Amino acid sequence: MEQMGGKHILLGVTGGIAAYKSAELVRRLREAGAEVRVVLTRAGAEFVTPLTFQALSGQTVFGGSPEQAAPESAMEHIELARWADAILVAPATAHTLARLSHGLADDLLTTICLASDAPLAVAPAMNRRMWNNKITQSNIDRLRTCGVHLFGPAEGEQACGEWGAGRMLEPEVLIQRLAGLFKTPLLAGLRIVVTAGPTLEDIDPVRYLGNRSSGKMGYAVASAAVGAGAEVVLVSGVTSLARPDGVAFVKVRSAGEMHNEVMRRVTNCDIFIAAAAVADYRPAARIDRKIKKNDAPLALELVPNPDILAEVARLANGPFCVGFAAETERLAEHAEAKRVAKGVDMIAANQVGRPGIGFESDENALEVFWSGGRATLPRSSKTEVAHRLIELIGQRYNSAS
Ligand code: CTP
Repeated sequence: MEQMGGKHILLGVTGGIAAYKSAELVRRLREAGAEVRVVLTRAGAEFVTPLTFQALSGQTVFGGSPEQAAPESAMEHIELARWADAILVAPATAHTLARLSHGLADDLLTTICLASDAPLAVAPAMNRRMWNNKITQSNIDRLRTCGVHLFGPAEGEQACGEWGAGRMLEPEVLIQRLAGLFKTPLLAGLRIVVTAGPTLEDIDPVRYLGNRSSGKMGYAVASAAVGAGAEVVLVSGVTSLARPDGVAFVKVRSAGEMHNEVMRRVTNCDIFIAAAAVADYRPAARIDRKIKKNDAPLALELVPNPDILAEVARLANGPFCVGFAAETERLAEHAEAKRVAKGVDMIAANQVGRPGIGFESDENALEVFWSGGRATLPRSSKTEVAHRLIELIGQRYNSAS
């Protein structure tokens, strides 16, 4: 594990039963060549004593006692914040995650986390109901949006006798994930164009044809790509979402506009990810006055829009292309047929029309297909699914180029 050699790891230990594994984690981190300093919360010190961590790390242990845990006890928080190359909070209880997600600095550990520029990772450990609680999940989403790395949790038997998600990852896995923070980001230096959201096709000045896409998945993919080191252009249809940090943002309304903006940019990019729900048809003519009603039936003539993804995929020396497929039935068959027909490198398919996932929802699940392979990204928040998808795209892109 050469990435860990000489690295300064600040390990925060909070009050969960998984704290016993943190003792082993310290030992293994040192074996991997890292220097470790441990900061305990008061509850953390009730599970494993400072003396244990001091013996294993060979360093003074901070926090743990009421006097030491106070942020104002010394200027220690600034010194420790500067010293750290990475901060790992393991175990991270639901309570600590809530404090971190709201920027609280009410003890030494949370103060250091706020005061440091070093990457911050958390390894949650808690009962599965606490983990699945919407409040915890929204805290997690907030932390991820702020760039905090989420390590786990794993699924399995829990200390309370239940089975589910909430176990802290094992020490060796945590060390692998930490080492990953010191590697060059997966998509470093790559230029990526992402489309997102619905396109709206105007019928007259007040009416349009639209669809139910919220844009959340595409925005999450654009953010995850920024997090993986890419330079991202997000070409977005009309949504109510905040512009993600770090992207170049291009707002469009219709499929025609999206087509123009994408075609201007893709010749100069490495990866194209088409997450937009592009209208397949538009009204043949746009009427510039409001259509007035009368008793006669009204027929609207529609003409096909350009298929942006298929057109980009046909470009000579074009980018690595990733499409999405929204399907209501026979998902694998339709998605694979779409991948081949459009000539794209990867297609991420999701089932629509099922409650709780897909359009307008905060969660998604994807089946991803490429030539000779497939992967399942299980149901999770769109942020988490987007991170996994970006990882997969990075791996496939790197093995194809
Ligand atoms: N797409 C596109 N331009 C279009 C239509 C679709 O770029 N005019 C892209 C979407 O962004 C998505 C993929 O193509 O990545 C699949 O879109 P989808 O609507 O699911 O499939 P269609 O090809 O439109 O087929 P159908 O609606 O019949 O399922």
